[in-house]
Amino acid sequence: MSAIAASARGMTPADLDAADPLAFARERFAIPEGVIYLDGNSLGALPRATAARLADVIAAEWGEDLITSWNKHDWIGAPARVGAKIAPLIGAAADEVIVADSVSVNLFKLLAGALQLRPGRRVILSEPSSFPTDLYMAQGLASMGAAELRLASDIPAALAAGRDGRQGKDVAVVLLSHVHYKSAAVHDMAAITAAAHAAGALMLWDLSHSVGALPLDLAGAGADMAVGCGYKYLNGGPGAPAFAYLARRHQAAFASPLSGWMGHAAPFAFNDAYAPAPGIARLLCGTPPILSLAALEVGVDLIAELGVDRLAAKSRALSDLFLAAVADIPGLVLASPTGVRGSHLAFRHPQAYAICQALIARGVIGDFRDPDILRFGFAPAYLRFADVAAAAAMLAEIVATGAWDRPEFHARQAVT
Ligand SMILES: Cc1ncc(COP(=O)(O)O)c(C=O)c1O
Repeated sequence: MSAIAASARGMTPADLDAADPLAFARERFAIPEGVIYLDGNSLGALPRATAARLADVIAAEWGEDLITSWNKHDWIGAPARVGAKIAPLIGAAADEVIVADSVSVNLFKLLAGALQLRPGRRVILSEPSSFPTDLYMAQGLASMGAAELRLASDIPAALAAGRDGRQGKDVAVVLLSHVHYKSAAVHDMAAITAAAHAAGALMLWDLSHSVGALPLDLAGAGADMAVGCGYKYLNGGPGAPAFAYLARRHQAAFASPLSGWMGHAAPFAFNDAYAPAPGIARLLCGTPPILSLAALEVGVDLIAELGVDRLAAKSRALSDLFLAAVADIPGLVLASPTGVRGSHLAFRHPQAYAICQALIARGVIGDFRDPDILRFGFAPAYLRFADVAAAAAMLAEIVATGAWDRPEFHARQAVT
């Protein structure tokens, strides 16, 4: 039942919390007293189990067992092991996902590999206003002469029309975010993947705002490649490594441009010549960050235990409640779809930055995205309906009283 339907039936936020099958999960996270955290779409909260796990990896594994931990505690297997745990969250097989590097670096590897898999084609097709790093990585490849970046608002139309009447035949790979980082608009993964394939192109999805928030089915959609963030809904911690997905059917022919030793078929043979590992491991480059991987594994285990279907349903109910509660705030304009969307909401307001800072000063943490977007994430694992109602009331009060209009709330910080 959505929160809007629930409130129509007279259910209060407290009633909704009492009926919430995921209410128990909040205790699994360390949420500071007095804080309403609406930014789990940017940095997921800290699972309580993470500190103990990291302490153990540091003291017992690194401290006691030193380098023998690569074998003894299977540090060497961590990228594939955690990748295999992410796989069911995104509709992939265990041997199609690996944890490595950042989303940005994985995009570089996959885009370059996609260009090689489609010889004679050099276009990376994406949309304007994608998350900047996605476009920047493509621009980097273009600046090396390896690709051409083309942007189109209507991707299926661009694929169908192609340029110069070539029916999209120059497109090697389509790169899109499944959930848009600002608006939370969702692309139809199956339909766009099919359109890419019909044009002979590969499909690469950025799942950074989707993984752990929405049910995903890469295999069902026939997707070729994907990347996603470890530090948002997977709660892996600041700078957590990202993951890369490469469909099994492409793995043997895939050539990583970052041919580091960890992606070698036999890293400890110390050969002069590079030979890629047989499967998904060829997407590895350098030595994996074991402490960060250990933290990410805790977050992934927790999200897998809670179940993405339940999480997505609760997130939707939370954001519906917020939407209804802020509907009459003057000057606040919804910049997200009312229909299918990701787990956050975006609103335009001319004073978005100062309002965001005023909310943070009162313990309601959302974020601001240039030029005028207030963004609120509804990470369902640790948010209560009562939190969302209180945050909406706080927002209404700040706008009504002009409490945002203080010099300290206008001062731009390095990270918004
Ligand atoms: C859609 C999207 N892609 C990529 C990134 C950046 O990923 P990374 O910092 O791991 O390179 C983000 C970060 O917020 C994002 O929202």
